[in-house]
Amino acid sequence: MNKFDKFLQLQEQISKKITQVKTLEQLESIRVSILGKKGTITSLLKNISAQIPEDRKVFGEQVNQLKRKVTEEIDRYKSNLLDAEIIEKISNNKIDVTLPLPESGIDIGKIHPISQVTEEVIEIFSDMDFYIAEGPDIEDEQHNFNALNIPDSHPARQMVDTFYLPKVNGESRLLRTHTSPVQIRTMLTKKPPIRIIAPGRTYRSDSDQTHTPMFHQVEGLVIDTDANMGQLKWVLEEFCKSFFEVSSIKMRLRPSYFPFTEPSLEVDIACHKENNQLIVGEGEDWLEVLGSGMVHPQVLRNVNLDPKVYKGFAFGMGIDRLAMLKYGMTDLRAFFDSDLRWLRHYGFRAFDIPSLSKGLSE
Ligand code: DAH
Repeated sequence: MNKFDKFLQLQEQISKKITQVKTLEQLESIRVSILGKKGTITSLLKNISAQIPEDRKVFGEQVNQLKRKVTEEIDRYKSNLLDAEIIEKISNNKIDVTLPLPESGIDIGKIHPISQVTEEVIEIFSDMDFYIAEGPDIEDEQHNFNALNIPDSHPARQMVDTFYLPKVNGESRLLRTHTSPVQIRTMLTKKPPIRIIAPGRTYRSDSDQTHTPMFHQVEGLVIDTDANMGQLKWVLEEFCKSFFEVSSIKMRLRPSYFPFTEPSLEVDIACHKENNQLIVGEGEDWLEVLGSGMVHPQVLRNVNLDPKVYKGFAFGMGIDRLAMLKYGMTDLRAFFDSDLRWLRHYGFRAFDIPSLSKGLSE
């Protein structure tokens, strides 16, 4: 036997061991026993220099070749084992997509009350044939103020604390202080009749128990040749009844002032407390829920509509406030704390999609 035949023999032995391996762990322990610090091949490598000079070169070549072959074989075998493991996992983990979700799965994630209330509002107005309109959170003074009949000198500009942003190409930029600019954008791009609501985020520099710098409003706008206050009152009454899920509601329309409506009114709904719980619809107290009015003729002119032909009514309300009133939260700031305990308590199940036919919040 050639004195280097032992390398061939060794390789055969190792190959045999490898092919008997069933798991990645077994393969790894074989690898360590051969190629690890104290492994068979590692000690042969250390032995190269101890060979007599005539043998050293061939011995070295043979050991390195053996190492390469064994390493390749281990790698190949490892990748086969990995493939087999994946295939087995897939075949053992078959998911039947037709099975109902486990109860716990549905209940882990919750829908934030603001999302839920927004959906409720959309459901009610969709039923009255309103469409959803949208506008950008970053507005300019033209849409947020000027076109809404709030010129630069107007005191209403100072009434709200606006977040101004750096100008872009000399043009003003701000975070919209209300959803009313969506009225302007809609009237500029759509022909009457218009019947839209615009829910979305709004921003004012304000923070206390009932104010947060970012909050949510929903705007409503109707433009038609015969839009009138009677319709406005009906729409708002229907909305309040549906939203608070009561069959009748005592409402009060109070004269007010907004630059973009004339006349302007604020809507209060009657309420009282029972066992420390707020009951909406009847009672001696009043809750202010929204602002509204007939669209100011100047606003119509600003969007190239003839006030002699077209009339409109509009309304705006705070979604967060509606949520607080309906679901009894007392601190608005908690809405945005991302506290999981709060969300688990006040959040809604993902499948509780508001529907008028089912009852909004059932
Ligand atoms: N934009 C008003 C605000 O943020 C709310 C409002 C009042 C909207 C009257 C309207 C309206 O469309 O007609 O306070």
